[in-house]
Parts: sequence; structure tokens; C-alpha cells
Amino acid sequence: MKIVVIQGPNLNMLGIREQNIYGPMKLEQIHAQMKDVATQNGVEIEFFQSNLEGEIVDKIQECYGEAQGLIINAAAYTHTSIAIRDAISAVSLPAIEVHISNIHRREEFRQKNMIAPVCTSSVVGFGPFGYHLAMMGMLQIMNEIKAAQEAQAQQQQA
Ligand code: DQA
Repeated sequence: MKIVVIQGPNLNMLGIREQNIYGPMKLEQIHAQMKDVATQNGVEIEFFQSNLEGEIVDKIQECYGEAQGLIINAAAYTHTSIAIRDAISAVSLPAIEVHISNIHRREEFRQKNMIAPVCTSSVVGFGPFGYHLAMMGMLQIMNEIKAAQEAQAQQQQA
């Protein structure tokens, strides 16, 4: 089982950008914590960050047949990108959308969300801890997929 974590524009600036909104934690620290959880649960994990919409679309497409789950913070593209939305929809993998800040309490232009309707769920407003919550959610989904596959295999044997 493999989870791919996709981080959108300016998230490479975490720890520097608007600490009052996003906190002091760096992206590498967030990823190190996620990696620990993945290792403890015997799941493979890959991290990808890009400031470019097309690169994010390419990465999502690469996940088809390669990964079993996506955790994505599309950052500002959340509010604008039909291309990223369509890519998530195209690969039809379980996807959990994360936002560090509570986008619902912020500016009007952040109220539009192109990504959420094609995701399994959203984690919003928990700060960097939201990535941990998304990991917990994704591991639960992975367990459910595994259990369903095992049940199907047993049925075929019977
Ligand atoms: C964000 C919220 C977006 O509106 C913003 O453009 C970001 C980060 C968040 O994690 O809270 O870059 O996705």
C-alpha cells in the first residue's frame, strides 16, 4: 500500500510564511512525522511539493496504478484549479484534502473550493496536526480496502 502526499504552491515556505496563520513548523518536519506514522503502519509514503499547477496534475496522474491513496493540500489552487480537480477525479483514488488554516473563516475568495467535491474528505483548521489526522483517516481507508480485498479473495476460494 502506498500513500502519496501532494503539497501545492507556497507550502515549501511553511515556517517562514505568515506564521500567525500557518504556524512555525516547516514542511520537512510535517513530512518526517507522517513518515514515522507510515513506517509504524507498514505503509509506503512519498512526498511531492510543487508551485506549478501542471506539475501537480502530472503527479496525480502518475499515482494511477502506483498509489492507493492521496493526501493533498492544493493550497491556493484549491480555489481555482479545475485541472487539479479533474486529475483527482480521473485517477479515482481515495483522496483526503488538508488545509492548515480554517479556510471557511477566511477571505471570501477562499470560500470557493474546486477540490473538496472530488475528495473522500477534508481536514481543515487543525494547523499542521491536520496532516496527522489525514494520515489516520487514510490508514483507516487502507485497512478497509485490504479487508474488502481479503473478503473477496476468500469468497472466490469458497
Ligand atoms: C491553505 C489555504 C489556502 O487558501 C492558501 O492559499 C494556502 C494554504 C491552508 O493549508 O490553509 O496556501 O491551503
